[in-house]
Amino acid sequence: MSGLFDLSGKNAVIFGGAGGLGKLIAKAYAEAGATVAIASRSEEKLAAACEDLKEQTGKEFRYYVCDATDEAAVEATAEKANKEMGPVAIMVNSQGINKKVPVLDFPVDEFNKVMNANVTSILITAKHFGKYMKEAGYGKIVNVSSVRGKIATRGAGNAAYCSSKGAEDMLTKVLAAEFGPYGITVNAFGPNIMKTPMMNKVFEMRAGEAGITVDEYLKQQGASLPLRRMSDPEDCVGTALFLAAPASDFLTGNILYPDGGLTAVG
Ligand SMILES: NC(=O)c1ccc[n+]([C@@H]2O[C@H](COP(=O)([O-])OP(=O)(O)OC[C@H]3O[C@@H](n4cnc5c(N)ncnc54)[C@H](OP(=O)(O)O)[C@@H]3O)[C@@H](O)[C@H]2O)c1
Repeated sequence: MSGLFDLSGKNAVIFGGAGGLGKLIAKAYAEAGATVAIASRSEEKLAAACEDLKEQTGKEFRYYVCDATDEAAVEATAEKANKEMGPVAIMVNSQGINKKVPVLDFPVDEFNKVMNANVTSILITAKHFGKYMKEAGYGKIVNVSSVRGKIATRGAGNAAYCSSKGAEDMLTKVLAAEFGPYGITVNAFGPNIMKTPMMNKVFEMRAGEAGITVDEYLKQQGASLPLRRMSDPEDCVGTALFLAAPASDFLTGNILYPDGGLTAVG
């Protein structure tokens, strides 16, 4: 058993690592022994997240300002991270955006922005970090997908998000097939909706429409799930750790669902 969840001696880069879920993943990997860097577009958010993470864990975190949709920026970040940290063995794609518009009104450039941020960015990060993992003969790529890659929403507005997550799931499988011979595993996990900056406004809007508080709204939404509650981002951390750890070394091309049972009954 010992060592199955140990990340000692491993370097990890987490895109979206200052976000609601990414930051928790950064903390868990550091606590499991990894040296962790976080990456995204806003230097202010990255610097603040590194301060928080240091306070919470007593460990040093580095950050890279990088737009994951910008290939030149990702190429430079991959080079810098592998030089400064040593071989990057773990790379997490927890970046993402959502744009909710009914199809009849959806501006095509907004649709493309979501696809770019949620799908094309994964091709780019896998391409440039994968090059170094191939040289090292070992790597773990963990993509944060969504239950919405598997089950469409009933209401209007989610055409871009659901399509992007479905594409992310297939890209995960294709990357697993191509990278497997290099000793690199590629897996994804799909959370249900959670309280993070990405969803807070949506929850406030839905709760406001129903004339209830956000907590009451989430309680209502969770009531029909097998585990009878909505997810917290913390509910995904164990899965994220598993997919980065030696415990999952023979698992690749899979999408796991820490979703309280939604996809089982959905
Ligand atoms: N919250 C939910 O209910 C939920 C449910 C299922 C799946 N997910 C998925 O979970 C992942 C994490 O989301 P979250 O809930 O933690 O949202 P979040 O708090 O909004 O975090 C998203 C992160 O992505 C970064 N980002 C966005 N575009 C980027 C780009 N082009 N390049 C680099 N970084 C970029 C943002 O940082 P910057 O703005 O600094 O770039 C931010 O740190 C996403 O893939 C999301 O689709 C979330």
